[in-house]
Amino acid sequence: PVTPPNQRRLAQKLRFFTDLSQCLFDFVIQLLPTTEELAVKEDVRRLLERLIRTIEPDSRLLSFGSTANGFSLRNSDMDLCCLIDSKERLSATDLVTMLGDLLERETKFHVKPLPHARIPIVKLSLDPSPGLPLGIACDIGFENRLALENTRLLMCYAMIDPTRVRTMVLFLKVWSKRRKINSPYKGTLSSYGYVLLVIYFLVHVKNPPVLPNLQQMPPLRPISKEETHLGGYNTWFFDDIELLRQRWHSENVETVAELLIDFFRYYSRDFSYNTGVASIRAGLLKKDTKGWQNNLSSGGFNDLRERNRLCIEDPFEVDYNVARCVTKDGLYTIRGEFMRAARVLASRPERAIVALAELCE
Ligand code: CTP
Ligand code: MG
Repeated sequence: PVTPPNQRRLAQKLRFFTDLSQCLFDFVIQLLPTTEELAVKEDVRRLLERLIRTIEPDSRLLSFGSTANGFSLRNSDMDLCCLIDSKERLSATDLVTMLGDLLERETKFHVKPLPHARIPIVKLSLDPSPGLPLGIACDIGFENRLALENTRLLMCYAMIDPTRVRTMVLFLKVWSKRRKINSPYKGTLSSYGYVLLVIYFLVHVKNPPVLPNLQQMPPLRPISKEETHLGGYNTWFFDDIELLRQRWHSENVETVAELLIDFFRYYSRDFSYNTGVASIRAGLLKKDTKGWQNNLSSGGFNDLRERNRLCIEDPFEVDYNVARCVTKDGLYTIRGEFMRAARVLASRPERAIVALAELCE
């Protein structure tokens, strides 16, 4: 019997989704950090912690960012945060200066202390060696407790549906780096921004959602304001992932490939860039209710105007636009890349691997 053309097309489409999903897994797996790299990084963290304790005995050095949230790629930089538990402590500026001197004396790192930056940090790097063929880059900051919490929130989202969430995020990180739209210093978006776009899409755009909204789930027991607030911001979220896995199941059964294609489609034509704010905490918000409109009439050198082209609300620091670095040109380039990706994937080439290669060219 002859298969009718529409059935044949459907079968082709489904095969493309299966192939592309498999290609995406294979692609990101080979880009994950090796166990050796992770072990070296942990050694570096411990060494640095020991040295910092010679200045501040009651301090701890914790990882945040990709090394701690499950979205790490090979040779990702290391984000470290120093917490000091004693009441009387040095200022971040003094600490950065002293730590910079100490590391320069005692280690082989290239050290660059930035004591007067908006957020004082020490930048470190290590030249390539046999165990670390690409060296290490690392930033040490101080008392950035909100960053530790947002790292934990992203990690929890990754743990709810590791296959789909991690594959999408890791792929987008590689893709955005290869397409050169992952540099906040040059007017495009940070990795953190892209991760928030993915979570926003999976929680608030997909119907049925792929992920629950962890910040809006009721706590299991009553909790006080002291327990949930940090520096005036509400940092509560449902973090009992074991329990959640028993109680919550997504009705959404789309493959990673389908989700990725829809992600590109959504951000190339459906998201309301001019008026909308993507908030993983509260869904789609309006720029004007947040006071984040890009005030085109002001003209001149008012750089406020460039701040709110793309608006992504930080999950806890709700008055902070994570995409504030994105310029007019930057957003134009990013949207162009979303459109290009949507187009490449919609053309469904014979072999999915060809689509991936073209996408990341
Ligand atoms: N962060 C933040 N606000 C930003 C950018 C970053 O609070 N505007 C914090 C977040 O805690 C984030 C961490 O810094 O998890 C690291 O950000 P980033 O380097 O953008 O993300 P990574 O996941 O570390 O990506 P990469 O591997 O590209 O370094
Ligand atoms: Mg990082």
